[in-house]
Amino acid sequence: MTKKKIFLTRTLHDFALKELKKHYLIEVHFGKIPIPRKKLEAKIEEINGLICFPYDVIDSKLIDRAKNLQVISTFSVGFDHIDIKYAKKNKIRVGYTPEVLTDATADLAFSLMIDVMRRVSEGDRIIRKGNWRKIYGAYDYVGTDLQEKTLGIFGLGRIGSTLAKRAKSFEMNIIYHNRKRISITKEKLLGIKYVSFEKLVNQSDVISIHVPHTKQTNQIFNKNIFQKMKKTSFLINTARGKIINEKDLIEALKKKTIAGAALDVFESEPIKKDHPFTKIQNVTLAPHIGSSTKETRAKMAQITIANIHLGIKGKKPKYSVGY
Ligand code: DGY
Repeated sequence: MTKKKIFLTRTLHDFALKELKKHYLIEVHFGKIPIPRKKLEAKIEEINGLICFPYDVIDSKLIDRAKNLQVISTFSVGFDHIDIKYAKKNKIRVGYTPEVLTDATADLAFSLMIDVMRRVSEGDRIIRKGNWRKIYGAYDYVGTDLQEKTLGIFGLGRIGSTLAKRAKSFEMNIIYHNRKRISITKEKLLGIKYVSFEKLVNQSDVISIHVPHTKQTNQIFNKNIFQKMKKTSFLINTARGKIINEKDLIEALKKKTIAGAALDVFESEPIKKDHPFTKIQNVTLAPHIGSSTKETRAKMAQITIANIHLGIKGKKPKYSVGY
């Protein structure tokens, strides 16, 4: 029997490639990241399975060329880079990697929150530039306590709920806004309170974003919202860059409309050395590392393969969206 063809838009762990090779003809793109569109367009015509990453745009035009494609397996929990509806219409399964990255991403959100509120990275930058002059004074490098501050969680899925548990142990008050309110029992268990989006924005000392990027959440954090946030508040984003209007955020940070931000995701990645964010001190920047621990990335690879196996067999992936 001829082996099915699987294409990876970049390499994965050795164990993952080994496992894939046992079952399929595999080809890995080793060149420029993201893979040039022309190459992906040419490949998609001949393959049965595609392993992709959050920056690979899998839109309807690409799917139209995919005459033999049975399954798309993305190495991510986010799937806003894939036209899910169109894949479904074309009977192409889509697998993704939730759950296993919940802890790692919640940990990163929490660490970014401490970092920007206590000005850790800012201090690091000051020392590296040889600018540590003031020592231990009443007002030198003072940050903000987390204890007794109000954390507003925007999106209470797996990652948002896990962040709530972390924040509870730091004695924070936690409010949340979600498309759907969770059960009162679960709210009590987590010690959190449901509020409207408006109240979340007005009342939080720090807001952490945990919603997917959709038409509804696109640039939902913009000038209007920054003006309604407390002047002393912080914004943390480990979800997707496009949920924030970056131009407006840059202005808000410069004018101190809000106190600071910590970002792991950006409108367009990677950002360059001369990006306006790199010139602002009250922002902590991370290179999209929410799920990037060795343990989590290995688990993500296992799921990515499991999703391919099932999709190729014509079954629903272990973690599936759409179809
Ligand atoms: C994902 O998996 O979508 C996240 O962005 C990883 O950090």
